[in-house]
Amino acid sequence: MTYLVTGATGKAGRHVVSALLAAGERVRALTRNPAESALPPEVEVVAGDLTDPATVPFDGVTGVHLLTIGGDDYATLTTGPELVKRAQDAGVRRIAVLWNGDVGPVEEAVAASELAWTRLQPTDFMGNTLHLAPSIRAEGQVREPFSDVPAAPVHEADVGAVSAAVLTSDGHAGKAYTLTGPEALTARQRVARVSAALGRELTFVELTEAQARDRWRDQGLADDMIDTLVAWQGSPPPHAYTVTNTVAEILGRPPRTFDEWAKEHAPLFT
Ligand SMILES: NC(=O)c1ccc[n+]([C@@H]2O[C@H](COP(=O)([O-])OP(=O)(O)OC[C@H]3O[C@@H](n4cnc5c(N)ncnc54)[C@H](OP(=O)(O)O)[C@@H]3O)[C@@H](O)[C@H]2O)c1
Repeated sequence: MTYLVTGATGKAGRHVVSALLAAGERVRALTRNPAESALPPEVEVVAGDLTDPATVPFDGVTGVHLLTIGGDDYATLTTGPELVKRAQDAGVRRIAVLWNGDVGPVEEAVAASELAWTRLQPTDFMGNTLHLAPSIRAEGQVREPFSDVPAAPVHEADVGAVSAAVLTSDGHAGKAYTLTGPEALTARQRVARVSAALGRELTFVELTEAQARDRWRDQGLADDMIDTLVAWQGSPPPHAYTVTNTVAEILGRPPRTFDEWAKEHAPLFT
């Protein structure tokens, strides 16, 4: 069967692709830039944009891994109803919807449809830690706010594996799954784990909220995005740090640990 993976070039989407391929399925990957997709050769890479539903090829597709963002600024995708209608008309049966931290218009359109939908609600991806790589490589130090606020990040490969599982097996329709890793860790603890994986001492410099806001502004982030980051990182909702057993229940094995993630990605920090 053929599965359409949107966001296939992203941190989680690449793992959805590899999990579906490993299960012996055919994968069609949607990207706005096929020439830069760097996906495995057996993947059918197609050009398309979720903000323009007519460009999204649902024909012959059994299941869809669907993003809820419509651009590089993580803006909420507003074309959900049209995408869902086109998917239904084309005969799609299952949709795994990857939320963006909140139930938005795409999730609502999918829930109102006749499709067998499953909502994936991951906490922060472990892969977000890669934004620390440049300063770790350059100066062996990180400068971050909210050093002692816990989070239970999930390995993006587990998000990919869960999406592939709900798309290819029964029993997941109409369910919302909160996906976390196996432990809650503060930012300071995550840096210590990266330090251990590298065998190199790293310094953690705590930024005040005002310093963090200035830095994000200098990086060009809009004020509302900065407010979102401050709210999420400074006082996250309980689901961001409360460990769930969902990954293990769906995959039949424990979720990957942050230590595993740090070892796998150590070369990117050196
Ligand atoms: N990162 C996290 O901690 C986290 C946590 C919870 C949920 N999520 C959600 O997970 C999703 C993926 O996150 P990520 O970190 O894997 O993202 P990412 O690595 O930044 O990748 C973003 C992906 O979105 C695709 N994309 C963006 N706008 C598009 C459009 N208009 N049409 C088609 N494709 C578009 C990009 O495809 P091309 O550039 O190839 O077109 C790319 O594959 C996001 O929806 C995010 O909200 C992320």
